[in-house]
Amino acid sequence: MPLIPIDAINGRIENEIRNVLDSEAHLSGFNQVNHAIEFLISDAETFAAVQVDTRDSFAADMVSGLSARHKQLPPKYFYDATGSRLFEEICRTDDYYVTRSETALLRNIAEELAAGIPQGAALVEFGSGESAKTRLLLDAAPQLSAYVPIDISADALDQASAMLARDYPQLSIAPVVADFTGHFHLPAAADGRPRVGFFPGSTIGNFDRDGAVRFLQSARQIMGDQAALLVGVDLVKDEATLSAAYDDSQGVTARFNKNLLIRINRELGGDFDPDAFDHLALWNPVHSRMEMHLVSRKDQIVNAAGHTFSFRSGERLHTENSHKFTIDSFAQLAARAGWSVANTWISDEPRVAMFRLEPIPGRSAVI
Ligand SMILES: C[S@@+](CC[C@H](N)C(=O)[O-])C[C@H]1O[C@@H](n2cnc3c(N)ncnc32)[C@H](O)[C@@H]1O
Repeated sequence: MPLIPIDAINGRIENEIRNVLDSEAHLSGFNQVNHAIEFLISDAETFAAVQVDTRDSFAADMVSGLSARHKQLPPKYFYDATGSRLFEEICRTDDYYVTRSETALLRNIAEELAAGIPQGAALVEFGSGESAKTRLLLDAAPQLSAYVPIDISADALDQASAMLARDYPQLSIAPVVADFTGHFHLPAAADGRPRVGFFPGSTIGNFDRDGAVRFLQSARQIMGDQAALLVGVDLVKDEATLSAAYDDSQGVTARFNKNLLIRINRELGGDFDPDAFDHLALWNPVHSRMEMHLVSRKDQIVNAAGHTFSFRSGERLHTENSHKFTIDSFAQLAARAGWSVANTWISDEPRVAMFRLEPIPGRSAVI
């Protein structure tokens, strides 16, 4: 069991307690109280195993998504322990250029990005995963005092935090297990420090346009009016390159997509047969996005969470969108959320971009 630094534990405990105090719904508040108590009595070793219980929302989202006329599920449920590991495997395939291009870009511009990070700042990363790219920033910016990785996957977060604590002993590491589309607070490690947000990996592309604006507004509110935000964005490119990235020749993305059904089986008592569905990746030019679907190979009935769902042969379950931007379309989106583009860097082909966003003065972050 990895040893977790005390700041990390404090950050997690603090967030749990704040969640309880903030809870509006009586019932979910009750669950959260239980969870917080469980958390508080755990010691440093059991801390690593504590997870935020997302099962209730998973069941609710699954039932409503599979009951809709166009069946769909939010991509955040991809990331159980297996899903996080499969995503890391996708990043290592030749076809998934996003990681390769963004990592090379970050390596080239790390000094420039670091120059914009104030002394004693906290780096706050949204959807940090294995925090691999982050190391390029941490190495270039020794003036950072704290690192706050936020991720919905406790497994990925615990592993990454333990490795970073070993490799960056001078840094205060305060991981937060949270759904960044929901309500959460930054831990004490970020209090009173200048803050720089980091949102790489084209994860912002998973939101629809309004969802992305809401996320950027909420990030501004969470980070404060003085914060900067570094966002990694995938750019529109030829369809062949895009399609290969979401349907790699080794079939890792197909396994990642189908793992959602395996997760439903395990966590929600489902009886999906993953082999009865095909992975489909397609370019949607109207919305400028890659889409991932699971396509039913036959007429079939599936049970999960006490509900029954019927699939026609060829019917699709829509599992992910990955929106692709131009420099202008992303700047317009950011402006809607009260951020202006202070700087833009573009990688070599296949091209991705990194934006440094700063709050537009006088524009409130109220959502
Ligand atoms: C596309 S991966 C990017 C990982 C890493 N940042 C990178 O650049 O390679 C998305 C990451 O965001 C996390 N994630 C997805 N949806 C989330 C949500 N709603 N709240 C918190 N984390 C989320 C996933 O667990 C995963 O680690």
